[in-house]
Amino acid sequence: ALYVHWPFCVSKCPYCDFNSHVRDSVDQAAWRDALLADLAYEAQALPGRRLGSIFFGGGTPSLMPPETVAAVIDAATAHWPA
Ligand SMILES: C[S@@+](CC[C@H](N)C(=O)[O-])C[C@H]1O[C@@H](n2cnc3c(N)ncnc32)[C@H](O)[C@@H]1O
Ligand code: SF4
Repeated sequence: ALYVHWPFCVSKCPYCDFNSHVRDSVDQAAWRDALLADLAYEAQALPGRRLGSIFFGGGTPSLMPPETVAAVIDAATAHWPA
């Protein structure tokens, strides 16, 4: 199982202890590249696994650009077969 964390929210709920932050702007290309680099690192450390599920959490993962979600899914399924 793969968990992908998107640590940004529109506003910060006062009770929230999670890794979530409000930012006026997010460098989307840098975050996409960092997620893909992290996936590549984990893939070489965990070869030969099968991917049963991908969970996008946050933060507010619905704020992720669809292109970034697609890139993460494509990379994950390329690293580990379903
Ligand atoms: C961290 S949020 C991420 C998803 C989305 N942003 C949301 O609020 O539903 C996931 C769940 O954790 C809950 N949560 C936030 N802060 C918490 C805390 N300090 N203790 C327990 N649950 C918390 C939220 O209410 C929400 O149901
Ligand atoms: S992660 Fe969820 S609970 Fe935490 S600040 Fe964002 S919207 Fe609120």
